[in-house]
Amino acid sequence: MDNKNIMSYETVYLNEEEGTIVILDQTKLPNEVKFLHLKEQKDMWQAIYLLQVRGAPAIGVFAAFALYLLAKNIKAETWEDFYKPLHEAKKYLNSSRPTAVNLSWALNRIEQLAIDNRNKSIPEIKALLLKESKKIKAEDIWMCRQIGENGLTLLKDGDGILTHCNAGQLATSKYGTALAPIHLGLERGMNFRVFCNETRPLLQGVRLSAFELIADGVDTTIICDNMASQVMKNGWVNVVFVGCDRVVANGDVCNKIGTSGVAILAKYYGIPFYVLGPTSTIDMSIEKGEDIIIEQRPPEEITDMWYKQRMAPQGVKVYNPAFDFVDHELITGIVTEYGIARPPYIKSLKEIFNKKVEA
Ligand code: MRU
Repeated sequence: MDNKNIMSYETVYLNEEEGTIVILDQTKLPNEVKFLHLKEQKDMWQAIYLLQVRGAPAIGVFAAFALYLLAKNIKAETWEDFYKPLHEAKKYLNSSRPTAVNLSWALNRIEQLAIDNRNKSIPEIKALLLKESKKIKAEDIWMCRQIGENGLTLLKDGDGILTHCNAGQLATSKYGTALAPIHLGLERGMNFRVFCNETRPLLQGVRLSAFELIADGVDTTIICDNMASQVMKNGWVNVVFVGCDRVVANGDVCNKIGTSGVAILAKYYGIPFYVLGPTSTIDMSIEKGEDIIIEQRPPEEITDMWYKQRMAPQGVKVYNPAFDFVDHELITGIVTEYGIARPPYIKSLKEIFNKKVEA
């Protein structure tokens, strides 16, 4: 296995000469480091749906490049002939996964830029979309770095950190969100002990978080999801850091299925529970967690996927939600690129957006 430091891989990038988006196929990790070069709309949709590219920020960056590439290939001379297929492509890509807001956020941003510049020539619009998609990636790198800096203020050398799913470099353009403070702390000579929840059913914790942390030299221990309570009881966890797919106005946070259980345990054991994510993952148009659409995934992910043979009786019902939401009352703070929001979130999240406008 190639144990090259994951920090030197790019998760998502645009290959302009080839006219493709290149992604590190996350379904193959940790055993194979394989890059996919995508140009067809259907393959882009599948890459998101199959989690070949995954993690809210990485999905957003990918979607921006995807919509730009599809727009670039539209042969049209008039705005009307250009916009119709652009809009169709946007709707199609947007249907791939419903929960992470970064997908629609990035697609809307690209589409809106085209609409705002409808009076320009089609080649000019295409050039603007290219610039914007690159800007979305550059901003993602900047936001994650800032989240890393802000998150690092919450850590002490030697801390035990528990994380769920993968909110690391693999889920973003660089650094990650929940794992960014760990990567940055390490650069500065700090050491942490990280516990990665396995994250059933798709194993993002053991396959991805452990992979990038080990590659970066972090003291990493994997545990099955149902071991988190024991690890906390042992006194090994000083803080919980997780990512997010959609943070809503009251501070409820949607993240990988199992996150709400971790938050409940953290509360019970008196361990601070922090959510780390960029403002592109905050959706102030939704009031509360109950209103977030939760993606349901195929039953085979639970019954078959990791086994040589099916491990559930035929005919059994399967409930496989990809996400849950954490009640805002369980969250100690939400770490963004513009600072750390604290309860009451209804007020502090607005303040974060005010800081963004002022910046
Ligand atoms: O289904 P996934 O693997 O895309 O879910 C990812 C998560 O839940 C992450 O925690 C979240 O997207 C934040 S990534 C910085």
